[in-house]
Amino acid sequence: MAHTTLMMIKPDAVENGHIGRILEKVTAAGFQIKGLKLTQLSKNDAERFYEVHQERPFFGELVAFMSRGPIVAAVLEKENAVSDFRTLIGATNPAEAAEGTIRKLYATSIGENAVHGSDSDENAEIEAAFHFAGRERF
Ligand code: CMP
Repeated sequence: MAHTTLMMIKPDAVENGHIGRILEKVTAAGFQIKGLKLTQLSKNDAERFYEVHQERPFFGELVAFMSRGPIVAAVLEKENAVSDFRTLIGATNPAEAAEGTIRKLYATSIGENAVHGSDSDENAEIEAAFHFAGRERF
């Protein structure tokens, strides 16, 4: 059965010109792109998207980073999409990410870590609805 996950290519990876290389790795790993856009989060958007982290010491830094420039948002579909995508992107801290993972290849720090992937099927749907209208999903 096909499952959904929500990817964001974060501002650092967009600034560094990695959009094409990341999308290539994602599709080569068997994910189907069901929604895709270049967009920018306002500070308020980023605060809402990362609401669960609002008590963390890095929340202000995270909101400033995620709203500083364009991101790519994508709805991805694959069997076991959430866990397979988290394996493909690697650990949150690129220093701990496995060889060949997207974060090992393209992330620079634990804060500026190139990509986001949903952490559950339920959050994938909430996050996909955050970025995409129904007619933008296929
Ligand atoms: P992600 O897992 O996509 O969503 C939460 C984000 O918070 C995470 O990526 C990092 O970008 C950021 N984050 C997590 N831990 C830290 C940290 N210790 N310092 C700064 N940013 C962090």
